[in-house]
Amino acid sequence: MNILILGSGGREHAFAWKIAQSPFCDELFVAPGNAGTADLATNLPVSYNDFEAVADTVLKNKIDLVIIGPEEPLVGGIVDFFRQRSDLNHVRLIGPDKAGAQLEGSKDFSKNFMQKYGIPTAASRTFTSETLEEGLSYLESHALPIVLKADGLAAGKGVIIAETLADAQEAMRDMLVGGKFGEAGNKVVVEQFLRGVELSVFVLSDGENYKILPEAKDYKRIGENDTGLNTGGMGAVSPVIFADSNFLRKVEEKVVKPTLAGLKSEGIKYVGFIFIGLMNVKSEPYVIEYNVRMGDPETEVVLPRIQSDLVTLLAATAKGTLQDVEMKISPQVAVTTVVVSGGYPDVYEKGKVIAEHRLDDVVVFHAGTTFNNNTEVVTNGGRVLAMTGIANSLENAVHKSQRAAHTVQFEGKYYRHDIGLDLIRYKD
Ligand code: AMP
Ligand code: GLY
Repeated sequence: MNILILGSGGREHAFAWKIAQSPFCDELFVAPGNAGTADLATNLPVSYNDFEAVADTVLKNKIDLVIIGPEEPLVGGIVDFFRQRSDLNHVRLIGPDKAGAQLEGSKDFSKNFMQKYGIPTAASRTFTSETLEEGLSYLESHALPIVLKADGLAAGKGVIIAETLADAQEAMRDMLVGGKFGEAGNKVVVEQFLRGVELSVFVLSDGENYKILPEAKDYKRIGENDTGLNTGGMGAVSPVIFADSNFLRKVEEKVVKPTLAGLKSEGIKYVGFIFIGLMNVKSEPYVIEYNVRMGDPETEVVLPRIQSDLVTLLAATAKGTLQDVEMKISPQVAVTTVVVSGGYPDVYEKGKVIAEHRLDDVVVFHAGTTFNNNTEVVTNGGRVLAMTGIANSLENAVHKSQRAAHTVQFEGKYYRHDIGLDLIRYKD
């Protein structure tokens, strides 16, 4: 089978790494890919938001299966585009259609969906510019802190946690009147603040059947002890100690099953990954958000724990026969530390030569990397490399991951030294 992965981050390198191990993968392509995927696959200089160009590439390279890594093309309707073209009908796609992608593409949609199907989530209300005055006065009676979310895709920046009423009202005006986040902020979801510990659960759905993948915890803030600006993710750990089997059973019964049943009731045949961001509030799961793809850097700890052949799982997903395939999960612990460019998530420089990026004892996933004119590997983004350590204990996995993050060198590198330490110390 010829396989194409769309995307260029650590997530896509992790997919390429796992798929390249499969005897069922003939030729592997990544578009556009990075310096890491170039080791395992053929990188193609195609933008994943240019559906015509993706279609041409798929036909030219006789691709059978496409894995859509990021949310943007899914929310933009790449699956619907393929379905409408008779010459592309045979191509199997891992990712939902536009209707299914609303779970991530519109917070208002996903909140209504959860309310309709009784899925536990923070209480919320949605406001638009027409209901601004009502919204501002609603905030006055809301308990602090107040969570405000831009409805649409805002590159991970659309969530504001306001500690004061004045901040909340300003944030609401910024979005509804000031045009902050553009169209994505035309609707604002105001939400109750949940106190608990966060983790994510990943589901692979073929539209009828599902498999629950290993859970993970990520570290979103740039600074140690979860301080400073939000980022795409500075590290991740799987498994998560506070997600015991009792809690995960509740997630399956109260969240996963009603989510998939709800999608079916809405007439959505959901084929692909669902990433469920959860808050564990006193051992009860609440959904913070859905994403319609895998997480980054969560994929860099989830896929290394899947022992089964990924191509078999994905082919069954596309065919609707997931119930016939077994998925084996390793009991080992995986920890990834993301090494970033100095200045990220604000401005940072690119083009720094990366030394010592081939390391023993860890799996090095490339994110923002490329080649310079001398074919040296150089930095090409904020998040540069994800160092995944795998071991029998959390302590050893952390140690391997951190040692690799320490060893790799490029000008201005930065990483968090505390990935996983909260879990080592965790007590109920
Ligand atoms: P999101 O972009 O939806 O992942 O939200 C970013 C972060 O905001 C989440 O990872 C949580 O840490 C936090 N967050 C979002 N919604 C809530 C909520 N209702 N209560 C507490 N924290 C929240
Ligand atoms: N690491 C969070 C995400 O992929 O959305």
